[in-house]
Amino acid sequence: MPLRIDILTLFPEMFEGFVGESMIRIAQEKGLVDICLTDIRDFSRDRHQKVDDTPYGGGPGMVMKVQPVVDCIEAVVERDRRRGPIVLMTPQGEVFHQRQAHAFAERADRLILVCGHYEGFDERIRAFCDMELSIGDYVLSGGEVPAMVVTDAVVRLVPGVLGDETSPHDESFSDGYLEYPQYTRPPEFRGMAVPDILLSGHHAEIEKWRREQARVRTRQRRPDL
Ligand code: ADE
Repeated sequence: MPLRIDILTLFPEMFEGFVGESMIRIAQEKGLVDICLTDIRDFSRDRHQKVDDTPYGGGPGMVMKVQPVVDCIEAVVERDRRRGPIVLMTPQGEVFHQRQAHAFAERADRLILVCGHYEGFDERIRAFCDMELSIGDYVLSGGEVPAMVVTDAVVRLVPGVLGDETSPHDESFSDGYLEYPQYTRPPEFRGMAVPDILLSGHHAEIEKWRREQARVRTRQRRPDL
């Protein structure tokens, strides 16, 4: 059964390139994931298909209405018997990390991502979601790019998506270290040489060098890790 990722958004067209290209497209073609987009606007009961309104109490901007979003969530949940976390994308959520990506890829068989938009959303929407995720301490114009970030980070960890099964565990963050430096041909470029050890063919020594480089790099750049 492929991992099903539902994305609820007012802007499904924003995802066309993302789901139609590269790793996500290949993962879908291999039958490993199923990305399902749903337009929240289809659930508006308004004559003009309105999905936002002015805030109670006044103030600038528009607020996403609770009814279309909640009706959309409920309809999407019912489309598949499998249950999975309903995740609201918001800068007020818990910050998304690699370990959360692993948890979703390894434990969930379904993920429902809800993209907020406009200046905000009706607070009552929160009650219909299981968790809230932020991709970092900055404010974007909507949850669409964050939903793509989470989808990309999760899908590439689904077994079989990347050709090489070992590579996701090698890389930055998975073991708490940043990735070691990598090189490919040519052996020298504008006076910058590839470290001799990598051309030596001594696999055990290369392993040791890489582990050490990962440690040094992490200490220098991200001592917080
Ligand atoms: N929506 C707007 N900004 C966001 C962020 N940083 N993370 C998740 N959702 C958001």
